Amino acid sequence: MPERAPPAVTNPAADRVEAEASERLAPSPEFLARVATVREALVKTVESAARARSSPLVRALVAGSAARGTFLTDRLDIDLFLLFPPELARERLREEGLALGRAVLSNPETRYAEHPYLRGEFEGFRVDAVPGFAVSDPSAPLSPVDRTPFHQEYLSRRETPEIVDQVRLAKQFFRTLGVYGSEARTEGFSGYLVELLVLRFGSLRALLSAARSWRLPVRLAEPGKEPPRLPAEVALILADPVDPHRNVASALSRRNLALVILSAAAYLDRPSGDWFEPRVPAPMPRNDALARIAERASHVTVVVLPRPDLVDDTLYPQLRKAERAIADELARSGFELLGSASVAGRDRVIVALEVAHARRSTVRTQDGPPPGLDRVGHFLGKWTASDAPVLQGPYVRPDGSLAVESRRAEREAEAVVRGFLPRLALGKDLTPRDPTTVEVSALSGAPESPALEEALRDLLGKRLPWLDRT
Ligand code: UTP
Ligand code: MN
Repeated sequence: MPERAPPAVTNPAADRVEAEASERLAPSPEFLARVATVREALVKTVESAARARSSPLVRALVAGSAARGTFLTDRLDIDLFLLFPPELARERLREEGLALGRAVLSNPETRYAEHPYLRGEFEGFRVDAVPGFAVSDPSAPLSPVDRTPFHQEYLSRRETPEIVDQVRLAKQFFRTLGVYGSEARTEGFSGYLVELLVLRFGSLRALLSAARSWRLPVRLAEPGKEPPRLPAEVALILADPVDPHRNVASALSRRNLALVILSAAAYLDRPSGDWFEPRVPAPMPRNDALARIAERASHVTVVVLPRPDLVDDTLYPQLRKAERAIADELARSGFELLGSASVAGRDRVIVALEVAHARRSTVRTQDGPPPGLDRVGHFLGKWTASDAPVLQGPYVRPDGSLAVESRRAEREAEAVVRGFLPRLALGKDLTPRDPTTVEVSALSGAPESPALEEALRDLLGKRLPWLDRT
């Protein structure tokens, strides 16, 4: 069933809080006029640079939040799209796009997201110049950004000044919760997703009023029109209006949507200005973490790997997979796993794991086959050999199956991790070429770093963020 905005409930406290926040977030008319002037100057400058270079550029346009006024002033970037003919070779698109960007931007720096773009400055504004193909059908994009001009067209036709206001408010709400941004590290709400949600429900309030009774996964696509190929752990399904095959919320994690659902009820019941004041969650110094694990009588193991030369967007999916692989293997190896976290720092990558005990039991109980099977002979042969590390058995269990209790060679979590790490598939970029560059240590001996403190916060400082606000 498609969600509809529920009937408006009066909430004078929320009215007041939102009016105040909106006013604070609204750019001044002078600033908006300045952005508009710079936008036009930027497009003109690019077009004349393209003529001067005889570049095959079809069209330049500013899209994204700077084109619609839906930006948050303290993180404004101007998204400049450089569109080239669809038949242009990809290699040329890259070269021409970057060259044009360099011709108009100061302090240009090449960056990589789904494909390369250029970040630089123009008249004091930060600009991302992104090359793409001028396709005529957004459901058949040739590069991941080719739908953008269609997004721009779709939104700018529909957004009233009230909606623009509500989009900024909603972005700030999501940012305060820590779930704004579709980068791999955040797995949150993209700007475009927030705009579509606000358009659909009409306001942040109406969106939250609906969200408080959502159940995962949330389907906002029209019945029978869901995008195909949804991953099993999908959180939210909302078809891109310009390309119904694509789920706009594909980057959003279940954790982050659940946080929004819970926060909706908490905010609507107790609105306050704090919901619109982002604070960077404090990292947890190693000594604080050591005090916590002393209280918890638990143990933390830290794996440090050299950072491969990859951008966060490429690295984080691999890192999260590696974290899961190490955590699962620890749990399979006889440790009671309490939690895990991972962070990519500037030059190293960290996986932190909390287990209930620093040492596992010496005893490993191994299941054997029930009597009557061919394998009984093998099992008994193996475990009655004179050098078998048997502590008890083989014996028959009450259910009739064979079992043996063997002796484990390693007991310390660190030794066990060091033992299995080379066997785990950590992803091609995370597997260090030189295995000696991997450090596995107990938290007390782990090298201190900002990345470690972030990982410790994620591992041991978990708490719904609004509970501690006044
Ligand atoms: P941005 O991420 O800059 O989003 O992408 P935004 O809407 O401008 O929001 P903020 O205020 O900067 O956070 C700019 C445009 O690029 C397209 C979307 O259309 C978006 O509006 N885009 C971006 C994509 O199509 N795919 C992406 O992965 C990212
Ligand atoms: Mn933007």
